[in-house]
Amino acid sequence: MKKIIFSLFVALSSVSAVQAADANAGKEKSGACSACHGPTGVSGSPMFPNIAGQNDAYIIKQLKDFKSGARTDAMMAPMAANLSDADMADLAAHFSSLPSANEQAAASSSADTSTGAAPATAPAAGNVEIVSSTPAAAIYAGNVAAGKNKSAACAACHGADGNSLVPMYPSLAGQSANYIAKQLADFKSGNRNDPIMAGMVAGLTQEDMNDLAAYFAVQNTKAGTGESNVSGHKLYLGGDAAKGITACIACHGVSGKGMKQAGFPSLTGQSKDYLKKQLASFRDGSRGNDNNGIMRNIAIKLSDADIEAVSQYITSLK
Ligand code: HEC
Ligand code: HEC
Ligand code: HEC
Repeated sequence: MKKIIFSLFVALSSVSAVQAADANAGKEKSGACSACHGPTGVSGSPMFPNIAGQNDAYIIKQLKDFKSGARTDAMMAPMAANLSDADMADLAAHFSSLPSANEQAAASSSADTSTGAAPATAPAAGNVEIVSSTPAAAIYAGNVAAGKNKSAACAACHGADGNSLVPMYPSLAGQSANYIAKQLADFKSGNRNDPIMAGMVAGLTQEDMNDLAAYFAVQNTKAGTGESNVSGHKLYLGGDAAKGITACIACHGVSGKGMKQAGFPSLTGQSKDYLKKQLASFRDGSRGNDNNGIMRNIAIKLSDADIEAVSQYITSLK
C-alpha cells in the first residue's frame, strides 16, 4: 500500500523529467541519501562510499542492481526499492556532476591556505565517525561475567536481565555492545545529558563500560507487546518523501533490531514513553550525541503526530 502511494507520488512528480535526466531534480531527490553519503556526495563515515563525481552510468547500474537484488545491501535495498528509472537517472546526473572527494578536499584546503590553517583532510561533510567513538578493539574486550557482577547497580532501573519494567527507563537487553558502550561514554563526557545516568557512570572506567555492555548485549530482548499503528507503520517502512524523512527501516531494520556494526541501536522492546522522549530530544537538540546529526536531521522533520504514531508502531515490533 505504502509502496503504491510512494510510487504514485514519484510518478507524478517526475512526469516532466521522463525524457532526460535532470541534475536539479536529482538534487531535490537526494535528501534521503545525504544521511549516509553526505550532503555533497562525500560521506563522513568510512562505512559509506563517496558517490560524488562517480560515473553516471555506473551509479544507475548500482541503483538498479540494489533494487533488483542483484547487488545486496541491507541499507541500500530499501533506499533503491522506491526509486523509478527516472529517479535513478536524475540522482545519477546530480551525483556525477559534483566534484569528487579529492577535488572537494583540495578546494577546501586551498581556501584555508590564506588563513594559514592546516589543510582540510576531509570535505564539508565532516570527518566524523558514524560507527562508534569507542575503539573497535574495546567493543569486544568486554567480559560478560565481570559485567554481570558490575550490573547490580543498574538492576533497580534497567531490570536484572536488562529488561526494564518502568516506562521511563530503557531496556538494555540485546542492545549492541557497541551502542551501549558509546552511550555510557557519552553520559560520562556529557555528550549525552541525563542527570541520573551522569551520576551512574561517573565512577566507571572504560573497562567497566565494556564489561557492562558485553553483559547486557547477550541478554534476551523481550518482544514488543504494544499495538501497531497504521501511519506509524507507513512512516517506519517508507519514510515521508514529501517531508524528506528517511525511512527508519533503513537503519533500524525490519524488526527494529538495528545494525550492530554500524552502531544503529535496536528499538525493539522499548516503551512508548522512552521512544517519544528520545525523538523529542533529538528534535529539540537536547540529545545531540548522534554522530553527524544522523538522528537529529530526521527528528527535526517529525511532527508531534509523527512521533506519537511511529513510537506506537515500534512498540509492536517483535
Ligand atoms: C542508511 C545509509 C544509506 C542511505 C540513506 C543511502 N545509502 Fe547508498 N550506500 C550505502 C552503503 C552502506 C553502500 C555500500 C553498499 C555495499 O557495501 O555494497 C551504499 C552504496 C551506494 C552506491 C554504490 C556506490 C559504489 O561505489 O558502488 C550508490 C550509487 C548509492 N549508494 C547511492 C545512493 C543514493 C542515490 C541514495 C539516496 C536515494 C542512497 N545511496 C542512500 C548506504 C546508504
Ligand atoms: C536510578 C535509575 C537508573 C540506574 C540505577 C541506571 N540507569 Fe541507565 N538510564 C536511566 C535513565 C532514566 C535513562 C534514560 C536517559 C534519557 O532519557 O536519555 C538511562 C539510560 C541508559 C542507557 C542508554 C540506553 C539507550 O537505549 O540509549 C544506558 C546504556 C544505561 N542507562 C546503562 C546503565 C548502566 C550500565 C547502569 C549501571 C551501571 C545504569 N544505566 C544505571 C536510569 C538509570
Ligand atoms: C540513517 C540512519 C538512521 C535512520 C534513517 C533513523 N535512525 Fe534512529 N538512530 C540512528 C542512530 C545512529 C542512533 C543512535 C545515535 C547515538 O546515540 O549514537 C539512533 C537512535 C534512535 C533512537 C534512540 C534509541 C535509544 O535507545 O535511545 C530512536 C528512538 C530512533 N533512533 C528512532 C528512529 C525513528 C523513529 C526513525 C525514522 C523516523 C529513525 N530512527 C531513523 C540512525 C538512524
